[in-house]
Amino acid sequence: MACAFRRSIASQTVLQEVFEDGAHYGLKSELFSGLPQKKVLVDFSSPNIAKKFHVGHLRSTIVGNFIANLKEALGHQVTRINYFGDWGMQFGLLGAGFQLFGYEEKLQSSPLQHLFEIYVQVNKEAADDENVEKSAREFFRQMEAGDEQALSLWQKFRDLSIKEYVQIYKRLGVHFDEYSGESFYREKYREVLRLLDKKGLLQRTKKGTAIVDLSGKGDSSLSCTVMRSDGTSLYATRDLAAAIDRMNKYNFDSMIYVTDKGQQDHFQHVFQILRLMGYEWAERCQHVPFGVVQGMKTRRGDVTFLEDVINETRLRMLENMAFSKTTKDLENPHEIAERVGLAALIIQDFKGYLLSDYKFNWDRIFQSRGDTGVFLQYTHARLSSLEETFECGHLRNINAACLQDPQSVSILQHLLRYDEVLYKSSQDLQPRHIVSYLLTLSHLTAVAHKTLHIKGSLPEVAEARLHLFKAVRSVLANGMKLLGITPVSRM
Ligand code: ARG
Repeated sequence: MACAFRRSIASQTVLQEVFEDGAHYGLKSELFSGLPQKKVLVDFSSPNIAKKFHVGHLRSTIVGNFIANLKEALGHQVTRINYFGDWGMQFGLLGAGFQLFGYEEKLQSSPLQHLFEIYVQVNKEAADDENVEKSAREFFRQMEAGDEQALSLWQKFRDLSIKEYVQIYKRLGVHFDEYSGESFYREKYREVLRLLDKKGLLQRTKKGTAIVDLSGKGDSSLSCTVMRSDGTSLYATRDLAAAIDRMNKYNFDSMIYVTDKGQQDHFQHVFQILRLMGYEWAERCQHVPFGVVQGMKTRRGDVTFLEDVINETRLRMLENMAFSKTTKDLENPHEIAERVGLAALIIQDFKGYLLSDYKFNWDRIFQSRGDTGVFLQYTHARLSSLEETFECGHLRNINAACLQDPQSVSILQHLLRYDEVLYKSSQDLQPRHIVSYLLTLSHLTAVAHKTLHIKGSLPEVAEARLHLFKAVRSVLANGMKLLGITPVSRM
């Protein structure tokens, strides 16, 4: 009896905390107490203008968004930075190509598509025609020299592309605080080279390039090139300039870069050079790498644009919903399909270690009973409709002694563990802890749904169960939002 009593007090306390803390449930735990508020920069998504948007960029977008959400939830001050590939020879080709076969109207109406078309075509022409290649090089030279006309065309390409990206990110529920890019450092890299030289870290090679010996001992066993023979910068040089610039601007406590694992060496080199330059804050920089996704294709072929992935997801989900017996009549089926489909995409991606590669499979991600995002959304929608159907009174009046059956107890115990899971993810920045927690919560709920009836139960019992389900929905929604998923209330 005493034990049952203690348990009912505990149940009451868990439910109370879930409702009172709302979106902050789990985050007020002692696991996070004394956690100082930090300035965190997250550099993510960062596609290259005019080039293909590949699955790696999609992964960077959703992983970076998750990390930013999590850091924000933990109370840190987060700045989300999109570092576009917006400088380089590809703009020489685009500039030359646009003059040959560009259309102003097409550029205005669908810039990403049109610029990519031009890019593909001009590359083809340049392979056969030396003059095209020449004029591309000349265009880029003008850009580097600060020629106003060349720069204004480049600026137009960039502005219109970003404008379109912002719209697409919106569909994903992703936003950025800063749209930066490699172009910002097209001049500032010179300062980095000067500094490296002053510190005696810059070595000239016979080819006329400049390198930094990463051991710092001058034996050149491992080095990083920071200047081309014509004096221009490389990817690494611009990242060095960007890191220093961000330190000056934000005085960050930590900066996190999210890219595929192919860039691991790149970031280790950049961090090591910063260290050699004497910046102790190099230790505050972190690269979060992820693995390769194989075989993500749309029915039309390879993924070229971010929009393709989202549209394909929506389309396939709509088809699935049309076949499903449980689908409700919806006012906005397209929107719901998109939200559910994106949840499926995100859960598939976040289930394992970020560093592992995986093979993408459209059918698998949409299984409504498997460990999928569809299952999470379905659970959330079911719980929402329960709340709509039955009026749920005040928590104060519930009798928690009615929640001592095994199903309720396992749910309550699971709810209690949410803070530990958040803590784990905050430590290794891996979303999989939260994913598996939410999937288990949904499985427990599916079982409880079958046995813990509301209709036909005594009012006292029904009321207690309704509160339990309401608490589950709240925690489920919190977790989904952290992962970057917008929960739906009908599907
Ligand atoms: N634009 C690069 C790419 O597509 C990713 C940039 C990542 N961020 C950075 N600061 N280097 O590979």
